[in-house]
Amino acid sequence: MKKAFITGITGQDGYYLAKLLLEKDYEVHGIIRRASNFNTNRIDTLISKYSNDKKLQLYYSDLTDSSSLNNLITNIKPDEVYNLGAQSHVAVSFNNPIYTTEAGNLGTISLLEAIRNLDKETKFYQASSSEMYGGDKKEALNEDSPFNPKSPYAASKVFSYNMTKIYRESYDLFCSNGILFNHESPHRGETFVTRKITRAVGRISVGIQNKLTLGNLDSERDWGFAGDYVEAMWKIVNHSIPDDFVISTGESHTVKDFLKVAFDSVNLEYSDYVEVAEKYFRPNEVKYLLGDSSKAKKEINWTPDTSFQDLVKMMIENDVRIAKSEKILLDQGLLEPSWENYQK
Ligand code: NAP
Ligand code: GDD
Repeated sequence: MKKAFITGITGQDGYYLAKLLLEKDYEVHGIIRRASNFNTNRIDTLISKYSNDKKLQLYYSDLTDSSSLNNLITNIKPDEVYNLGAQSHVAVSFNNPIYTTEAGNLGTISLLEAIRNLDKETKFYQASSSEMYGGDKKEALNEDSPFNPKSPYAASKVFSYNMTKIYRESYDLFCSNGILFNHESPHRGETFVTRKITRAVGRISVGIQNKLTLGNLDSERDWGFAGDYVEAMWKIVNHSIPDDFVISTGESHTVKDFLKVAFDSVNLEYSDYVEVAEKYFRPNEVKYLLGDSSKAKKEINWTPDTSFQDLVKMMIENDVRIAKSEKILLDQGLLEPSWENYQK
């Protein structure tokens, strides 16, 4: 039985990847952070199903704690390491540049060093990002396109991308980058624009929210479904050679397009509810991201299954369901009417 080690297992991708690997009969080991509240809600169903027979094992650790990561890798001796953990919010990285850099980069080097010193051929996957490109021009980006990071988050991702390549080329280790374009799902964090929109649409449709405040509505993203993208991670790690791959849908849409499809699906007009506020604009914006994943199609036989329309529909259905439960609790006085708190 193969052993996988996942950082960021409590995040969106961590959930989908852990589920995929457990269903493939891997033994999955993941790190969680100590927090003042429970933070494993995304993976609670997996914990219930798989932790009794130790197929899923979790450890308190942190990407900034090299010694703890080193001990875990040395003791577990995983076959595959997926480094998904990061302070992953681009706007927040302007407010917390040092923490974003420390978590993003110290974790990567600690894991690479631990693997280098291990007496085993452990494969390493780095969660690289389309943010590294900077997105100035309306052109499809591939593995040869130049990087032009525009945020502390993107700069930190470029560093980890390079370290992954350096360890591959210097020490002959199996280290690969997945350069993933934006991917979303019902498990997406609620402060990313797609989920912020679908949560609001759900609440507006049941009458418990009356407006949605956003930033730049003109930026364009190549949005795919996270469930499809974790398949690509696994294929990258199980390819015959270590390499770097762009993972994207090849279709780009504006935030306005997303709003239109989302509000249309509940028969509402987005312009009746959406307002724009300066505070959601970034000091430096990535305007346009479109990926070309022909290399992934050709070499690892990966293509996305989920269309943009189906992705929005899946997220809206989930968030209308949640909003209906929230409305019941609100009507019974069991929930504070505080949707403004979600506008982060
Ligand atoms: P996410 O939902 O924000 O999850 C991030 C994960 O990292 C969470 O489990 C979080 O733990 C963990 N984490 C953050 N700081 C940590 C620290 N100091 N120590 C240990 N764990 C820490 O992100 P995601 O969407 O799943 O993305 C996964 C990875 O892919 C990230 O590296 C992201 O930058 C990258 N990426 C994402 C996309 C995308 O569109 N989703 C595209 C390209 C690349 P808590 O739950 O405790 O906060
Ligand atoms: N978050 C957010 N909130 N974004 C907004 C808002 C808002 O209220 N209004 C407009 N936007 C715009 C942002 O300015 C950006 O141009 C776009 O919506 C997408 O923003 P996010 O959903 O925050 O994602 P991101 O593209 O910045 O970053 C995500 O994708 C990267 C891959 O390209 C994250 O998942 C990163 O971790 C990932 O690397």
